[in-house]
Amino acid sequence: MERLRIDLIAAARPNFMKVAPLFHALHGQPWCRVRLVHTGQHYDKNMSEAFFRDLRLPPPDLHLGVGSGSHAEQTANVMLAYERACVADRPDLIVVVGDVNSTLACGLVGSKLHITVAHLEAGLRSRDRNMPEEINRLVTDTVADILWTPSPDGDENLLVEGVAANKITRVGNIMLDSYELMRDAIEASAARDKLGLRAHEYGVVTLHRPSNVDEPEPLAALVRQLKAVGARLPLVFPVHPRTRKNLEAFGLWPELAQAPGLTLAEPLGYVDFMNLVCGARVAITDSGGVQEETTYLGIPCLTLRTTTERPITVTEGSNRLVATDALARTVEDILAGRWRHGRKPALWDGHTAARVVADIRRRLLREADGAAVADARQAAGVA
Ligand code: UD1
Ligand code: UDP
Repeated sequence: MERLRIDLIAAARPNFMKVAPLFHALHGQPWCRVRLVHTGQHYDKNMSEAFFRDLRLPPPDLHLGVGSGSHAEQTANVMLAYERACVADRPDLIVVVGDVNSTLACGLVGSKLHITVAHLEAGLRSRDRNMPEEINRLVTDTVADILWTPSPDGDENLLVEGVAANKITRVGNIMLDSYELMRDAIEASAARDKLGLRAHEYGVVTLHRPSNVDEPEPLAALVRQLKAVGARLPLVFPVHPRTRKNLEAFGLWPELAQAPGLTLAEPLGYVDFMNLVCGARVAITDSGGVQEETTYLGIPCLTLRTTTERPITVTEGSNRLVATDALARTVEDILAGRWRHGRKPALWDGHTAARVVADIRRRLLREADGAAVADARQAAGVA
């Protein structure tokens, strides 16, 4: 039987927990062959390899080794390398996840080669085109043939933009599948104990958005606020490489590292990081994924941004957008118990990968004879 050849594209830290549940759901199915592709956008051990280990992924079948660069360099280098890979061994379906440069690059390559492209986490919009991710989301969703959305706002955004309804399937939030898959290991992790933290008596911080960390003044203002919060509530801050580089370049690192109540750490693996999040009194972040994970766990989240492409975490979840200069006083609200814990959005339930697999089968397999259809694009009715 001819098997459906599926490429799963992973590139950067937030991709790995979106790809892993789908990999595990597809691996070993007789009707498909999965090729795990790593573009190499993130390459430090603690930004990449640690996640393969934690999420029990095998080494990638194909590593494009692209690395860092300007937006154009990085996007173009992924396109060049991935186009060659597709020409050498053509997949029937390319699954891209999230909103990083590699998502856009591989989506474009597939589309130009007339290979079916599916976007997992489609339809999210911050409406802030200064964010590189917003451009990546818009373009990826334009070229994708299948759009898997995490929440109703995703469907609505796509429909308003003119995407045909039959291309869209709401599957829920795949990030939380990783959480459920790894829940036992997360609970067993000693990360919190190793840092001498007691459950519900500390906050966890992550920051990496260019708007927060690339210019000296916004970053200095954040440092001032984090110091003020640290004086009230111990904070642990695993520092993203972009942020570390800039804290050092702007001369802010020593001040932050020496501030009472603040513990700076290297980026953590998924299991240890989620162990910290689970026990946190508050998360302070500009991450997309952390907004979702805290909503799922009912943990107060302060997002240091003016917009979010994940509005459901604010309307239904435990997230709130906060300006930098309001950070310390908003933490006081949380410490005083003035906070809404919210609820889990529909289909954020740990079963998203199964819905994705069912949708692939429905769209791309001819069930009548059980055979994978060679021209998946035609089969999907999207050629
Ligand atoms: C990227 C994504 C962003 C995502 C984030 C998750 C884009 C445009 N940005 O941002 O959407 O939220 O990943 O973490 O795709 N670096 C290292 N080691 C690494 C990776 C990066 O030192 O393993 C440093 C390099 O100096 C690099 C910088 O971090 O230039 C930025 O890396 P890059 O992948 O371009 O963007 P991120 O800020 O990581
Ligand atoms: N994360 C991690 N270790 C860290 C920081 C983050 O494992 O030190 C995980 C966490 O699960 C988070 C995910 O990485 O949801 C997303 O990564 P990031 O914030 O880098 O990207 P974004 O979601 O903003 O695109």
